[in-house]
Amino acid sequence: MQQNYYITTPIYYVNDVPHIGHAYTTLSCDVIARYMRLCGKNVKFLTGTDEHGQKVEKSALNNNVTPKEFVDKLSIRFKELCAKLNISNDDFIRTTEERHIKAVQHLWNVLIESGDIYLGKYAGWYSMRDEAFYAESELTPEGFAPTGAPVEWIEEPSYFFALSKWQDKLLEWYDANPGFIMPLSRRNEVISFVKSGLNDLSISRTSITWGVPVPGESKHVVYVWLDALTNYISALGYPKDTPDFHQFWPADIHVVGKDITRFHAVYWPAFLMAGGIQLPKSIMAHGWWTNEGQKISKSLGNVIDPFALIDEFGVDQVRYFLMREVIFGNDGNYSRDAMINRINNELSNKIGNLAQRTLSFISKIDAKIPNHRSNIEEDDLLIYCKSLRAGFDEAIEKQNINFVLDGINELADRANLYIDHHAPWALKKTDTVKMGDVLYVLLETIRYIAIYLQPFMPTSATNMLNQLGVLEADRDFPSLDKRLIPGTSLLSPSPVFPRFEW
Ligand code: MSP
Repeated sequence: MQQNYYITTPIYYVNDVPHIGHAYTTLSCDVIARYMRLCGKNVKFLTGTDEHGQKVEKSALNNNVTPKEFVDKLSIRFKELCAKLNISNDDFIRTTEERHIKAVQHLWNVLIESGDIYLGKYAGWYSMRDEAFYAESELTPEGFAPTGAPVEWIEEPSYFFALSKWQDKLLEWYDANPGFIMPLSRRNEVISFVKSGLNDLSISRTSITWGVPVPGESKHVVYVWLDALTNYISALGYPKDTPDFHQFWPADIHVVGKDITRFHAVYWPAFLMAGGIQLPKSIMAHGWWTNEGQKISKSLGNVIDPFALIDEFGVDQVRYFLMREVIFGNDGNYSRDAMINRINNELSNKIGNLAQRTLSFISKIDAKIPNHRSNIEEDDLLIYCKSLRAGFDEAIEKQNINFVLDGINELADRANLYIDHHAPWALKKTDTVKMGDVLYVLLETIRYIAIYLQPFMPTSATNMLNQLGVLEADRDFPSLDKRLIPGTSLLSPSPVFPRFEW
């Protein structure tokens, strides 16, 4: 039976246009989603926009438009980013949609029923930038949030979620599910935060109006994080008992940035436990990007625009760079030099050159997949190609995305050495049978590389597979075993990865 797989990005605040951080989170999910589809899984990949809350309300006000007009405009930009990045999401949820609002209100009522919500008064610190409440003890000596965001003192009537009640249950859950929060360093942080004692959480606001109305209340809107987190189930049709909900909940993975781990690994599971809903299987918190060594911020004027980056370097090149440059989970640094080096050294000179020199050599002979002898399966390079899959699958299960790109690079290095070692141009004069074997192995290696590269660089990989004449139906991972058919005519080769000229 086909296995289901549900992966989500955080939903993005529409207070501003998308930047490289948003592109990175979405892209990492896209790579995993595409990989899982190639394995034969039935994947649901969700992304969307987080459109309520004080921050968005204020941005709309600053732009002299209504919040609704503002979010409608900005949300489109996030959809355009998906298209520009070649993202394969199956749905795009907006928290201003009716399907979502109804789900949030339903969950609210469920939490009232379960006795987890009570009315009180909030008096404390709030950061609009983080849309988060902070205890006095969490503030820095200078009076900022631990994230560096400014905070303001607020006092207002508020509904509370009885988070403290769930402390032990959460700790038991982390204990029983060691893979629930990744990487390990984040898991440890979350556990010590929960162990240090949980306060009940304010979950409604009366000082803003831009939010989901609390059922039966005229003044309160739902706190933006309770609203936003619900997207992961509202997109599946919650509270209706839909086929999507059956197939895809609990989610296999919520991918988030490290800054929002607490919301996903503490608040969200507590809301779900209280609502009697199953918990997601895992939460992966990735690191943050800096620009040429500096923190990315609007005030520093160094925000990286993903649209401009793609226009300059190409979509697959940007996808490759972002996935290759940092170990998923660690922080990373963008630099123009590093981008150009990756494009020229790895894509153009290594993988592109391997394909180009092999294919153009063959095109000068007879432009056909060569014949080979029967002992080809004993070839070390082919054995290596085949052996990579198991390790790749295991790595992707652990979100170790880089491992796959390391392996592909290693394979391309070995194939380039193989050409130099066997020198098919010399064999052409001395031993054409052996030359057939060598070229066949090289074409097979390029086929493996192209199939493995599909989740990362879908367009370039398709281009490579087209040049090899691989049928569309034969491009998934189970088809890795289907060898190229000798005698098949090849298209005239064209370079896949042009060098980036300065
Ligand atoms: N709206 C919330 C998420 C709600 S999910 C139920 C939110 N939105 S956000 O737009 O501020 O951030 C979305 C994601 O972008 C986060 O995962 C965040 O970590 C990521 N990034 C924002 N800046 C980043 C970098 N400089 N580098 C990498 N990712 C960063 O939080």
